[in-house]
Amino acid sequence: MPVDKLTHNQVEAAMERAFAQAKAATGGENAHYIPYLANVDPSLLGLSVCLVDGTCLSLGDATHPFGVESISKVFTAALILKQLGPEAVREKIGADATGLPFNSIMAIILENHSPSTPLVNAGAISACSLVGPAGDADAKWAAVTGMFEDLCGSPVPLIDELYRSESATNFDNRSIAWLLKDYGRIYDDVDLSLDLYTRQCSLAVTAEQLARAAATIANGGVSPTDGCEVLSADLARKLTSLICTVGFYQSAGDWLYRTGIPAKSGVGGGILAVVPGVMGIGAFAPPLDAAGNSVRGQEAVAALGEGLGLNVFQG
Ligand code: DON
Repeated sequence: MPVDKLTHNQVEAAMERAFAQAKAATGGENAHYIPYLANVDPSLLGLSVCLVDGTCLSLGDATHPFGVESISKVFTAALILKQLGPEAVREKIGADATGLPFNSIMAIILENHSPSTPLVNAGAISACSLVGPAGDADAKWAAVTGMFEDLCGSPVPLIDELYRSESATNFDNRSIAWLLKDYGRIYDDVDLSLDLYTRQCSLAVTAEQLARAAATIANGGVSPTDGCEVLSADLARKLTSLICTVGFYQSAGDWLYRTGIPAKSGVGGGILAVVPGVMGIGAFAPPLDAAGNSVRGQEAVAALGEGLGLNVFQG
């Protein structure tokens, strides 16, 4: 069916089918390398859609707050695209897929000492170093959380326990940050940049907030619910291309081949999916596959896409 002719009833019915399919999916495990995440209830499942006409529909645990984790990379990428422009982001970080896990050190070395993209750990730490104003941790934090609030349409609190849990165990990210410093890819104080990255990963979001943020990106940077322009249409497209390229890390190609839907995952179990001109989707279910992507979240988004004929490659 033509996606611009979708009725709310069709979307609702497809969501119910996708939710049921996701609920029946098995497999995966909570992220265990961050103690807080290991203890989240693995049976939680939330699915939310926000259409570009501003209608929002939700099922299950769509208002349950969880750790945004790597989906935070989308928000900081949006911020530095806005603060520095797309050319500076490409030159200082890159806009390429790595084909490797999210915390790969090998990727940095293979890519000529480049962080590759703001959507893997290396590029996200580098992105945190680029957020202005340099050297001012409080003002940088306010800029990051401000972008979250603008895109999500509501405040995003910090989960203190998750922040402490991540800070105590982020040894690989510390290595990445110092390696990038050596390669001239950290543009502010190293510890400050790493701490900003760790803190942004520890923000709480809901599937509903992710759907709304995704819908704003899908709607050319303008919030479909309050009409605020958060990003220009050009930056919304650039951000979507980054999500498309590497949103699911080493399985980004498989995901895109299967669904044709640009999407970004986090090890908290969240997925933010952008269907340009049509809708944003937020999904949440903690158990992850080997690449760190929510098993039931993927099932929900893929089934919804299939049910409604959503695919960015159909023109
Ligand atoms: O850097 C980390 O290890 C986490 N804070 C975030 C990783 C993550 O969410 C990867 N995505 N699926």
